[in-house]
Amino acid sequence: MKVFVTGGAGYIGSHTLVALLAAGHEVCVYDNFDNSSPVALARVRQLTNRDMAVVEADVRDNDALTRALTDFAPDAVVHFAGLKAVGESNDIPLRYYQTNVTGTMNLLAAMDAARCKRIVFSSSATVYGEAQYLPFDEEHPIAPTNPYGRTKAMAESVIGDWASATPDASAVLLRYFNPVGAHESGRIGEDPQDIPNNLMPFVAQVAVGRRAKLSIFGDDYDTRDGTGERDYIHVVDLAAAHLAALEYSARAVGCEAINVGTGQGITVKELVAAYEAACGQPIAVEIAPRRPGDVASSYAATTKAERLLNWCAALDVDDMCANSWLWQSENPMGFEGD
Ligand code: NAD
Ligand code: UD1
Repeated sequence: MKVFVTGGAGYIGSHTLVALLAAGHEVCVYDNFDNSSPVALARVRQLTNRDMAVVEADVRDNDALTRALTDFAPDAVVHFAGLKAVGESNDIPLRYYQTNVTGTMNLLAAMDAARCKRIVFSSSATVYGEAQYLPFDEEHPIAPTNPYGRTKAMAESVIGDWASATPDASAVLLRYFNPVGAHESGRIGEDPQDIPNNLMPFVAQVAVGRRAKLSIFGDDYDTRDGTGERDYIHVVDLAAAHLAALEYSARAVGCEAINVGTGQGITVKELVAAYEAACGQPIAVEIAPRRPGDVASSYAATTKAERLLNWCAALDVDDMCANSWLWQSENPMGFEGD
């Protein structure tokens, strides 16, 4: 199958490329390297011993996108390209709407021009907002609480309307919970450009000595040990979910939103303990005030993914920490070292 992958050089994209190439698919990556490095693609080539086409361009550039899609003529698209920092989305919302919403509209129009009718989209559990009940199932009301989340909810609506209006179209909206970990080779992984906002990359940088200590944002939540509970999903399991979604899109029409998580909540303290075991050293922590906008618990209902995609997570928190540590310890400065 020919698969057009926007944002393929990024964290989740690069792991999905490994899975796509290993399965024998032909791939074209479309990325402007806004938040990623061409080194990640070189490593993917080394890992798989396979090549791929690469177009360096922006999803906001309608002409470039249409040209790339019509030239490659894919069977399906996986759409990772986007901006993802919640805090930044409050400061520069228009850039988020232009990239995440207009970029998605451009992509769908370009797919129409290239007669491509299948798309798998990177959405987020953040579209649910505050939990009205747990676990989050796909019927939970959509009520995002920040501009980033609203761009994802809007892009989902745009894709849903496109799928309704396009005969035989198939769209899968994958709502990721908390992607973490790295490829088991330690050759690719998450490489935040600035101070990490998310827990796992921050813990990894403390472990490798790039940061002094982790601030635990609140230990007075209504959870097992008072710290926030999340559904961490290994990025290699997440990559496999994309292949399952592509297969599903070949046999189904319409638009489906599907959670991608393990269904298990892990607290901050539990994750830190698992990381300490993986790296064999203590992680310095301090208890800090709650982070505004955080919730106590978030975890997925996973039955829809099992039913429609025949997919479920296979890797656990020890795998996530061990693989993250291998990547971080062998690449302390990320891809910059190459
Ligand atoms: P990432 O930043 O590592 O990857 C995004 C890729 O898109 C990068 O390679 C970047 O260079 C590219 N890109 C950004 N703007 C672009 C533009 N205008 N034109 C072309 N390419 C552009 O992020 P990731 O963690 O791999 O996330 C991939 C997708 O999954 C994003 O859409 C993100 O919102 C979504 N998502 C991520 C998480 C997470 O925790 N990582 C959770 C839920 C959803
Ligand atoms: C964050 C985003 C969410 C996004 C998700 C992607 C916010 C408010 N939410 O969610 O929109 O979809 O990332 O994975 O930014 N923690 C610490 N110390 C840290 C960092 C985090 O204690 O330095 C805690 C948090 O309070 C939380 C848990 O670790 O309890 C996980 O945090 P994080 O990795 O940022 O993920 P989310 O909060 O789920």
